This record gives sequence, structure tokens and C-alpha cells, in this order.
Amino acid sequence: MKVLGIDIGGSGIKGAPVDLATGELAGPRHRIPTPDPSEPEAVAEVVGQLARHFEWRGAIGCTFPAIVHHRTVLTAANVDDSWIGVDAVTLFERTTGCPVRVLNDADAAGLAEMAFGAGKRRDGVVIMLTFGTGIGTAIFVEGNLLPNTELGHLPLRGRDAELRAAARIREEQKLSWKQWAKRVEEYLHLLEFFFSPDLFIIGGGVSKKQHKFLPYLSTRAEIVPAQLLNEAGIIGAAMSAIELAAPD
Ligand code: BGC
Repeated sequence: MKVLGIDIGGSGIKGAPVDLATGELAGPRHRIPTPDPSEPEAVAEVVGQLARHFEWRGAIGCTFPAIVHHRTVLTAANVDDSWIGVDAVTLFERTTGCPVRVLNDADAAGLAEMAFGAGKRRDGVVIMLTFGTGIGTAIFVEGNLLPNTELGHLPLRGRDAELRAAARIREEQKLSWKQWAKRVEEYLHLLEFFFSPDLFIIGGGVSKKQHKFLPYLSTRAEIVPAQLLNEAGIIGAAMSAIELAAPD
């Protein structure tokens, strides 16, 4: 069964058909830069362009980098504020002409890692983290997702944790990998105090550079890098729309 997965990020909107049996992309990805400003109509137009690029007629799963409560976007930490209150499902169904499911980007990445990547066959409490422009989080208990956890906004030293420890902050503040890793470690200890996880999965763009920072991280829980790298969002988005898909 194939579903078109679309991953909406701060700089690019990427899509590919996904084979849900294997969790693999069923064709090459296509990427279109995120419009600036990233307002709802402009982003929805790009989502429509991607559906047309793939000549897609079936189900589509789509990530969004904010709280997505059922179909409605409730926050806008790293996208245009005009998204707040928007029914993203109706909007994307209009520009694609296809049935659509929308979910938080970290939740999507977590679903993919749990099914096909670093979280496969892992039970207990697993926390997936994505380090990028912000910090995205997804919590799984015995494999079940608690959606929209938004733990990147937990206070750390008086500010949102993502303003101290996102990957973007390392670049902006020109921190060494070690300096940044110490911030991440402090954040992981905070999460550990509240949730006592068995496993942390570290994802986002930085998972490709794991050897530069993982050696500096130590927690009671095991820490592993994400395995699906750039593709986790697309794969998890597609997985979320499985009930909308017709069998092959
Ligand atoms: C948003 C989350 C999102 C994360 C990663 C945060 O700023 O609040 O919803 O998952 O960034 O994109």
C-alpha cells in the first residue's frame, strides 16, 4: 500500500511516495523551498504542487511543525502566526484534491523510527527528539504515541529549552559540539526527571553528525541516534494516513 508522505519544514517542503509495508520510499523525493512568509495559502499551494508532481490520486499524510490537534493547527513557534486556528486538513485537501491527514512533525518522525528505525521492537517509555530549528518531541509508551507533547518548550534556565539547545542555536551562537552537547545533556536530564524514559532517540538534521556529540551525552536511559535521517518525517506522515489509503 502506498501513501504520499509530505514533510513541511522551515526551509523545505519534501515529499515522496512511501511503501507502508517496508517503510521505504517508493520513488525519489521531490523538494520545494518553503515559501517566505510561510503563510497557510502559500504553503498549501506548495503541498498541491507536490501532489501534482507525483500525479497523486490517493491518500496523503503531511507533517506540520506545530501542535496539530486532530485537524487544527494550535501553535506557530517556527512558522507564520497566521497558522493558528487553521484547519490544515481542509486546506490541504482543497489544494491536492486528495484525502489528507496532518500531524506534528516530531510525532511523524517518531512513528517512523518506532516502526522501521531506532525504536523498532523497543517497549517501555521511548522519547524521540528532533533537533533542528526548534526541538520536537514524541513520547511512546509500549509503542503507543502520546501526540503533541511539545517538550521543546519546557523551561530550561528560565527560557524555552529549544531556545537554548536546538541545533539552530549551536550554529547561531557558534558553540562547539561539546558545548552544545552539554546543553542537550542538561535538557535530557530534565526530561529524565519527569518521564523516566528507557530510551532517547536523537533525530533531526544532527543525527547525521552523531559521532560529534553523542560521546558527550550521558543519561540513565540509553541514547541512540535516529536511523531514518531525512526520511523519517515523510515516512511517518505517510504512516499516519494509512486508514485513508485504498489497498493496492
Ligand atoms: C514546535 C513543535 C515542533 C518542533 C520541531 C517546535 O518549535 O513547537 O511543534 O515539533 O518545533 O519542528
